[in-house]
Amino acid sequence: MIQLLASTRSKEYPIFLDSGASESVGKLWKSIGRSGKVVIVTDSNVAGLYLEGISASLASEGFSIAEVVLEPGEGAKSLEQASRLYSRLFELQVRRRDAVLALGGGVVGDLAGFVASTYMRGIGLMQVPTTLLSQVDSSIGGKVGVNISEAKNYVGSFYQPDMVVADPGLLKSLPERQLQEGLAEVVKYALLTGEDFFSALESSSGEFLDLNMSFVEPVVRRCIEYKLRVVSEDERDYGRRAVLNLGHTVGHGIEAAGDYGVYSHGQAVALGLIAAVGLSQRLMGLPGEYGERLGELLGDIGLPVRMQGIDPEAVLASMASDKKADDLSANMVLLKALGEPQINCDVEGELVRAEVERLVG
Ligand SMILES: NC(=O)c1ccc[n+]([C@@H]2O[C@H](COP(=O)([O-])OP(=O)(O)OC[C@H]3O[C@@H](n4cnc5c(N)ncnc54)[C@H](O)[C@@H]3O)[C@@H](O)[C@H]2O)c1
Repeated sequence: MIQLLASTRSKEYPIFLDSGASESVGKLWKSIGRSGKVVIVTDSNVAGLYLEGISASLASEGFSIAEVVLEPGEGAKSLEQASRLYSRLFELQVRRRDAVLALGGGVVGDLAGFVASTYMRGIGLMQVPTTLLSQVDSSIGGKVGVNISEAKNYVGSFYQPDMVVADPGLLKSLPERQLQEGLAEVVKYALLTGEDFFSALESSSGEFLDLNMSFVEPVVRRCIEYKLRVVSEDERDYGRRAVLNLGHTVGHGIEAAGDYGVYSHGQAVALGLIAAVGLSQRLMGLPGEYGERLGELLGDIGLPVRMQGIDPEAVLASMASDKKADDLSANMVLLKALGEPQINCDVEGELVRAEVERLVG
């Protein structure tokens, strides 16, 4: 089993990575010195697949267990749902030495993590991510939170888990579309890491989509390691952590312009990456070959490379309203080279417009 160490100013914690690792959750939790109750928070899709196994693993090590099963979907990430969970934890007489186990994708992880960070001012937290996005991104780094009706992720905190168990074997039940969602973030990490990772992904995207574990595990590991490095330098997102926004400035504009119904987050990030690479070629001297190679890689994965059904002006308008400013200039992450991201690039509005228009073809 691969064991990585997350090292942040607020906490150090292990990340266990292995296909099958979730079967040993109880042993692993005990191995880091934990005892007491574990409240497993999950959604009904994941519960049907993995709750029994996870509960059995904890029970066999003597942990007392309770289970809370939520409706799947972004709607669960709300203050109302958090409030219901606080009451449930109170009812179960959960105390500070006890813990919440988030079993699921980013929605469950963000909500359960937020509840763990605030109930009694913080109780134990274990993340067992079950989507690709949550294994490479949301379960690592300590951002937890909920949505409010006005905006996504506006209420939350930084709260590192005590342990993460990333089991790529759990991805076998994931719908292909969810796998593609996560792969958009993986492509982002490859661009941020360098040519070596990017070309490895180009040659293995087919094996990845077939979930051949000898290709999946090393890729998940590289993404986690990259995120750990960034978070250890800038846990609270004051500077360097912004590199993780590569492709997200335009991506968020596309998602919002389609009212979150035309393109999913991962699809919008794919288009945002194309725009960021295009601007990097124009402004930072990134070699021209990368635009083409990125388009091919995203196409192989089944992610969009052209924007349809959304007016570029609407994208620009949502980008402007996102930063609450009228001018169209954008603060973006661009690439000087693969593996050499530059944060806080001030890009003129007309250049952003031209790049978003190019996405339409
Ligand atoms: N905290 C962070 O740093 C961070 C980073 C990125 C995204 N996020 C958040 O993550 C959320 C999106 O997460 P997501 O993409 O994992 O979506 P999700 O949590 O909604 O899960 C997607 C769907 O897959 C199902 N599912 C999960 N695991 C499964 C499995 N193994 N097999 C079959 N079905 C499974 C779920 O029930 C759900 O229907 C958003 O709310 C986003 O804001 C947080």
